[in-house]
Amino acid sequence: MNYQMFLAVVALLCLQVVRHVVHADPLAVRMVDDLVTFKQGFFDDDDNDPFFSLVAAPEEEHWFQQRIDHLGFYRKTFRQLYYVNDTYYRPGGPVYLYCPGESANKISTVKSGFLLNLAEATNGLVVSLEHRYYGRSNPVPDLSPRNMRYLSVAQALADMAHFIETAELPQIEKNRADVRWIVVGGSYAANLAVWMRLKYPDLVYAAYSSSGPVRAKYDFYEYDLMVGRRLPCADAVAEAVRQIDEVLYSGDESAIRDLKTAFGLEALERPADFAGALVDQMTSLVQYYAPPVANKTDAVADYCAAFNLNDNMGAGSIGLVESFAALTKRYLAEKKVKVLETYDTYRNANNYTLDQSGRAWFYQTCTEFAYWQTAPPTSAMRSLRSRLVDIDYNEAPCRAYFGAQVSLPVDVSRINRQYHGDQIEVTRVYYVNGEFDPWRYLSVSAPTAPPRAPTTPDVHVRVIPGGSHCYDLRRPTDTDWDELKEIRADIIRTFREWLSQKNTALPEQDDWESTF
Ligand SMILES: *[C@@H]1O[C@H](CO)[C@@H](O)[C@H](O)[C@H]1NC(C)=O
Ligand SMILES: *[C@@H]1O[C@H](CO)[C@@H](O)[C@H](O)[C@H]1NC(C)=O
Ligand SMILES: *[C@@H]1O[C@H](CO)[C@@H](O)[C@H](O)[C@H]1NC(C)=O
Repeated sequence: MNYQMFLAVVALLCLQVVRHVVHADPLAVRMVDDLVTFKQGFFDDDDNDPFFSLVAAPEEEHWFQQRIDHLGFYRKTFRQLYYVNDTYYRPGGPVYLYCPGESANKISTVKSGFLLNLAEATNGLVVSLEHRYYGRSNPVPDLSPRNMRYLSVAQALADMAHFIETAELPQIEKNRADVRWIVVGGSYAANLAVWMRLKYPDLVYAAYSSSGPVRAKYDFYEYDLMVGRRLPCADAVAEAVRQIDEVLYSGDESAIRDLKTAFGLEALERPADFAGALVDQMTSLVQYYAPPVANKTDAVADYCAAFNLNDNMGAGSIGLVESFAALTKRYLAEKKVKVLETYDTYRNANNYTLDQSGRAWFYQTCTEFAYWQTAPPTSAMRSLRSRLVDIDYNEAPCRAYFGAQVSLPVDVSRINRQYHGDQIEVTRVYYVNGEFDPWRYLSVSAPTAPPRAPTTPDVHVRVIPGGSHCYDLRRPTDTDWDELKEIRADIIRTFREWLSQKNTALPEQDDWESTF
């Protein structure tokens, strides 16, 4: 393991999304954009990061002829992009089928990240298969409403199954029938990983499921409960938001205009778009929290420090809104956020250009998952976001973007029935969640989920203390802490164990431990 190279190269397997800001911007869309853009406090200077500038050579890109429709009689095909890394593969080893989920695929998914460590320790072949409708894997010529009809979880799972059955991989041609396939993913793709075990147990030997929100929820107000638990300044934020809402609900046009201007968001016409814009910094901070690298400040502490300026809590609460405004302005400037492009919810409704991860993911939320992130349902609950950020703010754009192709309100009971939500019981799955990941509320480690032993011979359900979304999949680094290292070591131990049940061709258990 070339550790020096790893120090130079920052990999976020889980966070492989488009780097540019996607133009299409309901809240669900921005969450996908955040997957990539959030690196503060962890990455020194991501623009100069060699990892992200990796461009695949033409010979590194592979194309699989995939069926457009697995569920009907239509037999046409489209090209689905995949990357392969066979550096660690030895005959007898497994194939790790990584799914980048709601993001365009990148060659970096097979270059670096914890999955490569796992592959090294188990002689694995790493294959990263782009999800249909993302990046360059498109079964349709554009993303107009009617063309979205082949985008569903069932089709995506069938894509992987068909790939497992028929993809031409020279490395495994000789012993194809004996090869064990392990599906790996983070976030939405973590759902797919475990659902592959559920629906295709004969094809998929095991799954590694990182931070999967396996239970779809319509009104996902619990997201902020975790954000509040993580932020020491949550009370101050909530008080600022309460005061902001007083203005937004007052109907006083000039006061509302002044408020928007104070935040640098005067370009936004709809009050709800303004309200929605105040959430992003805080949520991505928590969802993608990473301990600071040497000589950098802690991102959470930094955020909260803004609310302590001028002794806000004591010196009269008007200062809180001002502090929040200054913080937001700084954020918009530092991130070079284009306000209208990012927060005007309806701006891109009729932009059908391919390769818009945000738009494709938004369709998936409008049809199967919802996951609408809202203010809490009762005013008795502390709210970190304006009450204008409600179901309507989240869901109404579904109609504007996809017309009659979507049926509202989203019926999440369908997907929960099909894939068993957080009640799911399948064997040979390694689940990982982060203690402070807001998505944990919908995972197998949620308070609503049946209690599970953290470790049985067949299923591991682990929560990384202090961890955030998909943290385990990141490249091991200097800032990794003991509990994280222990869980990663256990992942390796567990897959070696599961693989050894039929296989003897694994390397000695020697140097892999030293790479952590
Ligand atoms: C449509 O979206 C694409 C991809 O984000 C973007 O490059 C393009 O500028 C957009 N078109 C318009 C007219 O806004
Ligand atoms: C495979 O992964 C290893 C370890 O991250 C990396 O050093 C190597 O360059 C990768 N090989 C290819 C062909 O991508
Ligand atoms: C951190 O700061 C100290 C003192 O300012 C300096 O000696 C050290 O080299 C810095 N470390 C890094 C990694 O920049």
